[in-house]
Amino acid sequence: MGRVYNFSAGPAVLPEEVLKEAAEEMLDYRGTGMSVMEMSHRSKAYEEIIQTAEQDLRDLMNIPDNYKVLFLQGGASQQFAMIPMNLMKNGVADYIITGQWAKKAYQEAKLYGQANAIASSADKTFSYIPDCSDLPISENADYVYICENNTIYGTKYKTLPNTKGKTLVADVSSCFLSEPVDVTKYGVIYGGVQKNIGPAGVVIVIIREDLITEDVLPGTPTMLRY
Ligand SMILES: Cc1ncc(COP(=O)(O)O)c(C=O)c1O
Repeated sequence: MGRVYNFSAGPAVLPEEVLKEAAEEMLDYRGTGMSVMEMSHRSKAYEEIIQTAEQDLRDLMNIPDNYKVLFLQGGASQQFAMIPMNLMKNGVADYIITGQWAKKAYQEAKLYGQANAIASSADKTFSYIPDCSDLPISENADYVYICENNTIYGTKYKTLPNTKGKTLVADVSSCFLSEPVDVTKYGVIYGGVQKNIGPAGVVIVIIREDLITEDVLPGTPTMLRY
């Protein structure tokens, strides 16, 4: 059977050698006598898989030691809630609305605190990135939120916004690993992995350690705390 070239934003086509290696390991993952889908997610064999994945990502992105790398469930959309739940200490955050995904994140954040739309390109159907050099950043904003690459509209930040010292949070779902990034410019970089890295449902969160604290919004479920 011929393979289809699935040119979707994601999930999309994967390299054949990757698929073949996964297929070969499906009956016996490296001498364990079972596939990765059958082994305990607490086993030594699995620990090695996840630790290697983390190290590979750290090497590729040059992630500093004071950032944690989290492999989580719920896709990128779950982060629309987890970010305000965990980071809104003052209950305030500034959002730059450059597309549907930034808008969804903004609407979700409004459930948890005061989310301000400080810039938007909705007036021209999200066809541009607004000038972000001198935005009215809220004095008590816990973070400034962007969607770095707009999957639907194709616009992308060429320079990161001037957050005036506030923590930058970026959804990089559709530009993850597509270019070198300076991780230190962000407090949180996250993305659903189905476009550039792995299967749908997994989200990678790269978060500066000092942003992981106990004083999350009251009622935040334990499993939704970073
Ligand atoms: C930029 C961006 N953010 C978030 C999402 C939502 O991702 P998920 O389906 O993993 O929740 C998408 C999905 O395509 C996206 O393109």
